[in-house]
Amino acid sequence: MNLLINSPSWNYREGELYCEEVPLKRIARKVGTPVYVYSRRHLVEAYREIISAWRGRSHLVCFSMKSNSNRAVIRTLVGEGSGIDVVSGGELFRALRAGAPPEKIVFAGVGKTEREIIEGIEAGILFFTVESLPELELISRTADRLGKTAPVALRVTPDVDPKTHRYITTGKAENKFGLDREEALDFYRRCLKLPGIAPVGIHMHIGSQILQTAPFREGVDRLVGLLKKLKGEGISLKYLDIGGGMGISYQGEEPPPAAAYASALRPLLKGLRLTVILEPGRFITGNAGSLLTSVLQVKKKAKKSFVIADGAMNDLIRPALYEAWHQIVPVSPGKGKPRRFDVVGPICETGDILGAGRSFPEPAPGDLLAVLSAGAYGAVMGSNYNSRPRPPEVLVDGDTFRIVRKRETYRDLVRGELD
Ligand SMILES: Cc1ncc(COP(=O)(O)O)c(C=O)c1O
Repeated sequence: MNLLINSPSWNYREGELYCEEVPLKRIARKVGTPVYVYSRRHLVEAYREIISAWRGRSHLVCFSMKSNSNRAVIRTLVGEGSGIDVVSGGELFRALRAGAPPEKIVFAGVGKTEREIIEGIEAGILFFTVESLPELELISRTADRLGKTAPVALRVTPDVDPKTHRYITTGKAENKFGLDREEALDFYRRCLKLPGIAPVGIHMHIGSQILQTAPFREGVDRLVGLLKKLKGEGISLKYLDIGGGMGISYQGEEPPPAAAYASALRPLLKGLRLTVILEPGRFITGNAGSLLTSVLQVKKKAKKSFVIADGAMNDLIRPALYEAWHQIVPVSPGKGKPRRFDVVGPICETGDILGAGRSFPEPAPGDLLAVLSAGAYGAVMGSNYNSRPRPPEVLVDGDTFRIVRKRETYRDLVRGELD
């Protein structure tokens, strides 16, 4: 079988699918299925690719942990020097617990609560991104009351079309995120008058799974225009945060490498003394992970054949939520003639599909399938729907692997319930 993802960490060897040097069947035998499997090597290599693309320019990568918040994943990246992009008090808690240095944490999110703001201020994060006037005022009041100054970066909507799925487009004028470009100058002027606020940066995030450099260039160009106007008014910012969004290959797309983004943006930044912040999520974690699932049965109906797997939409909701396409491959493909199947889970929803119209030799119950490119927005979006315990997560490192999150139990399902 031909793997369509861009990761050397996943390969067939003698007819068996491996993650790094570990055959997936060994993991399934030891841990059971469904299970998320991550390649440590992929995480590190993707992170280093970005770092080396920006060498020579002051920069900070803040890994977007909404894509994958497993502690071992965060620790791996923090160990490489990464900062973290968080979007909630819960993510801040996890990031700190995983050892992320607070001075490398940026706190985004379209509606932060007062409690979350207090937590961010008390932790001493690098900055909050601010998305509205009420939020700016709330941060100001809260910091002032605590006798502190909160560093902020205003999230500006550059109004560019990233040409991606409408559900993951965030930088257009009609999206709920950010401040209109026209209002931005006024907001910075207001920052100077409010107590407890220090404007330190400007932020954009135009969308996710972007496969071209042009939308980034357009967005950064617009932000740089604003930076220059601000400078003219005596407001000098230290950080230009260009968000996340770099795409990956799910089905043979050819995403630009990190170096292509850096070379497209560097000329725009010439002469500007600031630190570029990047918030990649999917680029680092997407192709680091797969959901490994076992076939429960093959069901042939008059119009269609189904492979019913033990992994389902509660484990990986992206196909149901965004019509996302993940390559699904047999772990031991064998030599049979390929047939067409819809790969579905056991949940009572027609939308419980992992992949429709997939071709591979007819599997037998117990055979393993790998749903590829599931490291980003996979486990983090998992739920207990149909009272299904969430799957464990495993981190592969060379020829060894370890469980980095235990499989949930039935007891976990009812923990916290009261009569
Ligand atoms: C503010 C912000 N930064 C970074 C990201 C990460 O995006 P991606 O995983 O596409 O890199 C997101 C994703 O929604 C985001 O909203």
